[in-house]
Amino acid sequence: MKYIYIKTWGCQMNEYDSSMITTFLEKTKKYLITKEAEKADILILNTCSIREKAQEKVFHQLGRWKKLKNKKPDVIIAVGGCVATQEGKEIFKRANYVDIVFGTQTLHKLPKMIDKIEKKRQFIIDISFPQLEKFNYSLKTKTTGYTASVSIMEGCNKYCSFCVVPYTRGHEISRPSDDVLLEISILAENGIKEINLLGQNVNAYRGRTFNGKICFFSELLRLVSEIDGIERIRFTTSNPLEFSDDIIEVYQDTPKLVSFLHLPVQSGSNRILQLMKRSYTTEEYETIIEKLISARPNIQISSDFIVGFPSESEEDFQKTINFIKKINFDMSFSFIYSSRPGTPASEMKDNIDLKEKKKRLYTLQNCINKQTMSWSRKMLKSIQSVLVEGISKKNIMELYGRTENNRIVTFKGSHHMIGKFIKLKIKEVHTHSLKAELI
Ligand code: SAH
Ligand code: F3S
Repeated sequence: MKYIYIKTWGCQMNEYDSSMITTFLEKTKKYLITKEAEKADILILNTCSIREKAQEKVFHQLGRWKKLKNKKPDVIIAVGGCVATQEGKEIFKRANYVDIVFGTQTLHKLPKMIDKIEKKRQFIIDISFPQLEKFNYSLKTKTTGYTASVSIMEGCNKYCSFCVVPYTRGHEISRPSDDVLLEISILAENGIKEINLLGQNVNAYRGRTFNGKICFFSELLRLVSEIDGIERIRFTTSNPLEFSDDIIEVYQDTPKLVSFLHLPVQSGSNRILQLMKRSYTTEEYETIIEKLISARPNIQISSDFIVGFPSESEEDFQKTINFIKKINFDMSFSFIYSSRPGTPASEMKDNIDLKEKKKRLYTLQNCINKQTMSWSRKMLKSIQSVLVEGISKKNIMELYGRTENNRIVTFKGSHHMIGKFIKLKIKEVHTHSLKAELI
C-alpha cells in the first residue's frame, strides 16, 4: 500500500473534486489516504485561482514539498485544479520536481498517470476538457456525516469581466439527470439526509433525461425532493441572470428546499455591474427577491460582493451599502477585487489603492454582520428544525447541528438524536452560534 496526501484549496467544487480523486485512487486498492504529508508517497495539490496571488501560493507550497522529495526521491508530486489548468507546462518549468499536472476535468486519469510515472519517470500533463468524462468513472457515494454535496453541472459561460472560472473550468455542462438522481439515492440509502447541489451556475442546469429530453433545474429540484430519506435540499451557486419564475415556484410547493438562498449580486451600483458584465441591474435583482418573498415569506438571502472593482467610486460603493440594507442580506462572502490574468477586467486600471479597498471591505462586512445578528435575534424563542451532526467540539456534554438558515446550534440532547432532524427552541443568540433546548 502507498500513502496519498491531498491538499485542497478553494471552492466547494474543488472539495468535491478532491473527494472524487480519493474515490478513484482508493478504488484501485493500491493507495491509502494519509493526513501527514511527511508519510506520503504521492503528494497531490488541488489548486484555486479565483483570487490573490494564486500562482505564488502554489509555488511556495511546492517549494515545501521539494524538501520532502529531497529526503525521499521516489515521492510523486501531482498538481491539479484551476492554477494547473491555467499554467500548464509552466509548472514544470518553475518546479522541475513536479511529476504530474492534471486539470479540473481529467482527475479520473490520475491513477493511470501515477502508474506510468512509477514505471518510467517523466513529466505527464493532461489539462484537456473531456467534459463530464470524470463522472463516468465513479459515483461519489462515500461520505461521512449526514449532509453531502453532489455536483450537477460544471463550468460557466457567463464570462463576468473579473472572473477566471470560464477559462479554468470550461463551458457549462450538465450531468444527465438520472446520474444525479442515482447518486443522491445511493447517498440517501447510506444515511445522507441533506443534499447540497453544486455547480458554478446551478440554475443554468440543463441535464439530459433518459429519453433524450432536457431536465431543467426546477424539475431537478422537485425530483430530488421525491427521493426517500432526503429531507433538506440546498444549492450553490446560482446566478441572478437565469433565476427564472419556474425556479421561484419550487419555493412555493417544495418544503424540503430550504428558506435560505445564496444569490451573488457582487455590487449595488448598476454602472459597476455593467463593467463587471453581470447582465442584470439592481432593479432586476430586487424583482427576483420580491417574487421569492411572495413564494416563501420567511426566505433569507446571502450574497457575494466584490469591493474595489476598477473605477469603483465612493458613490458606487455607497450604493452597494444602501442595497445591502434594502435587501437586508443575512450573510455574505465579500472580497477585495483581485485582477486575474487573462480576464477583460485585468486590462482596466486597478485604480483603487489597497488601503481604500480594505476600508470598503471592513465597512461592508460590518454592515452585513449587524444584519446577520439582527436576523439571528429574530430567531430567539422560535422553534427550529435542526439536523443534528454530532457532539459539540467545545463541550462534550452538548450536541450540535444546523438550522435551515445555516446557523450552528448547540443543545443538551442524547446520542440517538445524531443524524436526525430535531425540533428545538432557541434560547440564546451569540455572534457565531445559537443555544437551544429540546421541546
Ligand atoms: N457563479 C458565481 C460566482 C463564482 S466565483 C456567481 O455567479 O456569482 C465565487 C466568488 O468569488 C464570486 O461571486 C466573486 O464574488 C468572487 N470573485 C471571483 N473573481 C474575483 C476576483 N477577480 N476578485 C475578487 N473576487 C472574485
Ligand atoms: Fe465567474 Fe461570473 Fe461565471 S462570477 S463563475 S463568470 S457567473
